[in-house]
Amino acid sequence: MSRDQATELRELVKGLSKDKAENAARVIAVTSGKGGVGKSNISVNLSARLAKMGRKVAVLDADMGLANADVLCNVTSRVNLAHVVAGRKRLAEAVVEAPGGFHLIPGASGLSQMANLSEFERARVVSTFRQLETDYDLLLIDTGAGIGPNVMSFLLAADELLVVTTPEPTSITDAYALVKAVSRQRENVKVDLLTNMVRDRDEGRRVYDRVSVVCRRFLGISIGDAGHVVHDPRVSGAVRRRLPFVLDVPDSPASLCIKQLAHKLDRHASEPRSGGFFRKVASWLAG
Ligand SMILES: Nc1ncnc2c1ncn2[C@@H]1O[C@H](COP(=O)(O)OP(=O)(O)OP(=O)(O)O)[C@@H](O)[C@H]1O
Ligand SMILES: [Mg+2]
Repeated sequence: MSRDQATELRELVKGLSKDKAENAARVIAVTSGKGGVGKSNISVNLSARLAKMGRKVAVLDADMGLANADVLCNVTSRVNLAHVVAGRKRLAEAVVEAPGGFHLIPGASGLSQMANLSEFERARVVSTFRQLETDYDLLLIDTGAGIGPNVMSFLLAADELLVVTTPEPTSITDAYALVKAVSRQRENVKVDLLTNMVRDRDEGRRVYDRVSVVCRRFLGISIGDAGHVVHDPRVSGAVRRRLPFVLDVPDSPASLCIKQLAHKLDRHASEPRSGGFFRKVASWLAG
């Protein structure tokens, strides 16, 4: 490393340690143990709804496999975070406006590449991404399913986890396994459970009760009840039309559930946020 680089690195690191929690976005990882439970649909629709309420919201598509939040919104970006990490594009070029007024950031492989950077490059990338944390009120991270190392780094760095499960027993057990894995590595983690594709509120409540009892008994942690989203056949029509269902069919049962969820989240807008999300992701990835 040259002397100039060393000075620049010191300046970058100095700047990073000043991550101010007050002007940092609240970062919520939308996650699940089992795949296909509705994380991307929930991230996108919740964001569209919160944007309508005047909040500055971005979804970071952090699914390393089949990233598809962009497909749900019919937006395409030819720039993703991989280009930004490689220094070939500016961060602003990767941010696209989605229907409803929220922003979508196709993250995918770019973030995992952060693991392979030198300390200098990583500090540069993290300081670039810091802008995302100060530009928004809320940053939702749409993660892939399960507890692989990439997903885990987001779960360890986020302020809160919104764990999505359906009433299927396999989805419930996998949700519990995920909470267990995270709680082993992170004390005092804030977890809320959202039940999706349920028949009604009662079914959602029963699922929540089951998960929360075992989390308390075996892990010693209490998880919050984020509520439920009903199974709604109109969701798939909206997906086919590539429009968030809260915009496509705003009065449908699933849209009304998202509205409730948005208000609930917004009431907790002053939840503590720790700042430095990308710095933490980068350091977890780097091991
Ligand atoms: N409330 C709902 N009612 C009916 N269908 C739903 C509902 N939520 C999601 N779906 C359907 O479930 C399927 C999976 O949804 P989605 O892609 O959002 O899940 P995911 O958890 O992001 O999946 P992956 O783990 O592959 O990223 C989609 O076909 C979607 O249309
Ligand atoms: Mg998804």
